[in-house]
Amino acid sequence: MLGTFTYHNPCRLHFGPEALDALAGELAGYGDSVVLVYGGGSIKRSGLYDQVMAALAAAGKQVAEISGVMSNPTVEKLYEGCAIAREANADLLLAVGGGSVIDYAKAVSVSAYCDGDPWETYYLHMDEPANKIIPVGDILTMSGTGSEMNAGSVITNHEQGLKIGHVFGSEVIPRFAIVNPELTFSVPDYQMKAGIFDAFNHIQEQYFSGTDDNTSDYLAEGLMKSLVHASRIAVADPEDYEARSNISWVCTWALNTLIACGKSTDWEVHMIGQAIGAVTDATHGMTLSAVAPAYYRRIMPYGLPKFVRFATEVWGVAPEGKTDEQIAEAGLAAMEDWMREIGVVMHASELGLTEAMFDDVVKGTFLLDGGYKKLAPEDVRAILAESM
Ligand code: NZQ
Ligand code: ZN
Repeated sequence: MLGTFTYHNPCRLHFGPEALDALAGELAGYGDSVVLVYGGGSIKRSGLYDQVMAALAAAGKQVAEISGVMSNPTVEKLYEGCAIAREANADLLLAVGGGSVIDYAKAVSVSAYCDGDPWETYYLHMDEPANKIIPVGDILTMSGTGSEMNAGSVITNHEQGLKIGHVFGSEVIPRFAIVNPELTFSVPDYQMKAGIFDAFNHIQEQYFSGTDDNTSDYLAEGLMKSLVHASRIAVADPEDYEARSNISWVCTWALNTLIACGKSTDWEVHMIGQAIGAVTDATHGMTLSAVAPAYYRRIMPYGLPKFVRFATEVWGVAPEGKTDEQIAEAGLAAMEDWMREIGVVMHASELGLTEAMFDDVVKGTFLLDGGYKKLAPEDVRAILAESM
């Protein structure tokens, strides 16, 4: 652990089939005005909306609503929500949904009282909030992003062809999260798989950085093994509670700041994935699965010892009689076998990406230097070509 860091996660997380019972106690900690934030209707179909409204009524809250938060929430939708939150003088934003809904609630939380334009302030300039922040609490319905217990918020600006995430400070982390894995049973198969790979890649993005002996890497390996094991069971039987609960818990811990401690962290797969998302509006986790194998093959020579460790520790590759390169390659091959087995997207062309879009994706890809090799724009172009 050679890095210097401060660890602070103020989110109180309630987990399990009875987790929603904790909502009443959480609501008591806030003023009367609650803005309920949700997506395109899954919470109405599942009955969760009625349960939450009943809890809000029992707590004597005045409720305003921001509905129709889309996957990959847009800047236009952000402006709309800010007006609703200000109008309601919101004491709490209660986000009920997946990563898009929770990310969006955090964006509204910092933007409603922002003096400047929030897109420019928080996403283009990456400024930190200097204004009132409305507290956020969430009820998670789909596992993957880790948004329930982190300060990330990703917003898409289609006009500018940009999808940008801002990881805020701990003051933007939701104050409470309610995670009942049973709520994830109704997540469509494609979204469940996308969420699984999203979380797997969150772990990779942190694991594939640094060369010191670091406790975070041992935690990361355990999380990856648990996720791979549970994913196989959940894909065969989506209502296997044990598997779905392990997936939910891994997804939370994959990106709630813990395993980033002492790590420089990479995030380049996410940068490419987000740039693809900006031009295709494809499902986030699938934008990552489409490019991850080509990306990791490209950087493998620069971080070979970690790729050897990934192969032996996560995938059980036997090292005997193999060169380090062969061990590392066998690890990536095992990862790809698993990806194909659970059924994530392996080709960016399946997401609607065409060669004509490569220029925009390359331009929209931020090049970071926390991983084993800082890419050049031409590397990104080659990765896209190999991922088609
Ligand atoms: O809108 P509704 O009707 O709720 O339907 C959603 C949506 O269509 C549906 N869904 C969610 N829970 C369900 C359900 N359907 C049936 N039953 C349920 N229980 O699933 C669809 C996808 O939901 P969404 O929230 O878009 O997915 P996800 O959780 O993957 O979130 C994706 C967003 O999070 C960002 C992504 O970029 C993307 O914008 N990310 C946020 C991160 C963070 N905060 O740290 C990190 C990630 O890397 C990611 O970038
Ligand atoms: Zn992600």
